[in-house]
Amino acid sequence: MTIAEIKSTFDAEISKCVRLAELQELKVKYLGKSGALTALLKSIRDLPAEERPTFGAQVNELRKQMEERFASKTDELKKEEMQRRLTEEKVDISLTSCPSRGALHPVTLIENQICELMVAMGFEVLSGPEIETDYYNFQALNIPYDHPARDMQDTFYITDSILLRTQTSAMQARIMEKRKPPLKIVCPGKVFRSDSDASHSPVFHQIEGLVVDKNITLCDLKGTLEYIASHLFGEQTKVRFRPSYFPFTEPSVEVDLTCSNCGGKGCALCKETGWIELLGAGMVNPVVLENCGIDSDKYTGFAFGIGVERAAMIKYGIPDIRLFYENDQRFLKQFGK
Ligand code: DAH
Repeated sequence: MTIAEIKSTFDAEISKCVRLAELQELKVKYLGKSGALTALLKSIRDLPAEERPTFGAQVNELRKQMEERFASKTDELKKEEMQRRLTEEKVDISLTSCPSRGALHPVTLIENQICELMVAMGFEVLSGPEIETDYYNFQALNIPYDHPARDMQDTFYITDSILLRTQTSAMQARIMEKRKPPLKIVCPGKVFRSDSDASHSPVFHQIEGLVVDKNITLCDLKGTLEYIASHLFGEQTKVRFRPSYFPFTEPSVEVDLTCSNCGGKGCALCKETGWIELLGAGMVNPVVLENCGIDSDKYTGFAFGIGVERAAMIKYGIPDIRLFYENDQRFLKQFGK
């Protein structure tokens, strides 16, 4: 091949190269030991002496051009290759598998809210054992062994005298035995009953409130509950007392709120009454004060027990208590934003 032939085939071939590997092969083909250009150089000896310098200079010039062309083509292909790999091997970091952020359970939310309201009124938060003695759960609260009020609560007994507490009221006697008035205590916690349907669960949560001091009246109880109700369910919420019976309070009341769904006009949720029952309460029975060594001539007190799930069901319009415990994300995601 002549210099001109080599140059034109080289130009044609190198411009067709798309891979670095092809370029490498091409380099060997032209510039390698048995390459086309090397062969051309070798043919120099067949030329007349006077032509050799010019020919040699031309071949060297061509070698220089080819080397430059290889260098620039290598650069070009490396850039292309990098670009191709960046596209082909791209990792989509926007599709992460990070777990979504958690939030507080609605029962915890309501429990916290109520406790915060109580703390704002000067109450102290205390907790006690879930495995309780018959004494604190019943007897100290004026419910002896043979008392019919035991039937109000289906109890999980562990032994004859040890049980899973059925009410946070058990904390009342525990506290009053140890501390003397003035007392302003709130006790949130789990309670247990052998009961299960859309509005009853074998485990649920209560918050017990207890105030004992001189001159405590039913008005103090009402004021306290009105404060909680208006902050938890809205300013317009009204509270009403209905006579009831609990052995540990005298008088005892059932506390109703104006229905948050219809505002008291009457709807399906409140069974057309305009009121929804929230909790039990009353003035601490003097018998209970005396059981705990507190002089009932000097001191009076009020107590109440809120069902936390019940409060959450009323606040959020939840129809079935079991929804709280199924851990269905679709349910839980609606709270705690
Ligand atoms: N312990 C009662 C229950 O679980 C609720 C209750 C009623 C608590 C009256 C009280 C109270 O403190 O005074 O049904």
